[in-house]
Amino acid sequence: MARRRVAILISGRGSNMTALIEAARDPAYPAEIVLVASNRAEAPGLDRARSEGIATAVVEHSAFGKDRAAFENALQSVLETHRVELICLAGFMRLLTTGFVTRWQNRMLNIHPALLPAFKGLHTHERALAEGVTEHGATVHFVVPDMDAGPIVAQGAVPVMANDTPETLGARVLAVEHRIYPQALKLLAEGRLHVEGEICRVDAPEARKQEAR
Ligand code: GRF
Repeated sequence: MARRRVAILISGRGSNMTALIEAARDPAYPAEIVLVASNRAEAPGLDRARSEGIATAVVEHSAFGKDRAAFENALQSVLETHRVELICLAGFMRLLTTGFVTRWQNRMLNIHPALLPAFKGLHTHERALAEGVTEHGATVHFVVPDMDAGPIVAQGAVPVMANDTPETLGARVLAVEHRIYPQALKLLAEGRLHVEGEICRVDAPEARKQEAR
């Protein structure tokens, strides 16, 4: 079966991007990364993608001022040029309009460094420590117009240790991100995810949303 054509959208270092690229090196993986696009020309992840021989594109949001739709039209045309079928947001720091999100409904994933619906937004590790939670983690979810919402595809949890700092906790969560994002994209590319209202179901009994620990 043809592999699904995936674009990864980044704004920064691109460690999740790298995890996806590495997973997709396996010819048996059901998706191939055909494009890495960034809204920031200086995103370090772009160099990494280039060194992997992956096509890159820069669509700088600053060139469009406050006109989000114009920025997204430019992005959309790059996606079409590369015949992209699925999108993975990986540290992409732009809010997308309802129009763009609707166009990519059920075909666009995001990864968030918390166990949604807890800790939407920024500084999740600091906030988890401030709340004294004993478990923290990461979530891959479908993108919907609301930020850090949308049907949950995969989650991975880590324990919070007494001496954790945002950095140590963040590093533990990041390792989980790098594991669950490729797993989630695999399920999507295989057509095994089914969104029913707010819920995402995985169509194989052995597939679980939470990793075995
Ligand atoms: C990750 O923590 C991800 O969960 C969040 O942004 C960060 C991106 O990191 N959405 P990287 O660029 O993938 O290293």
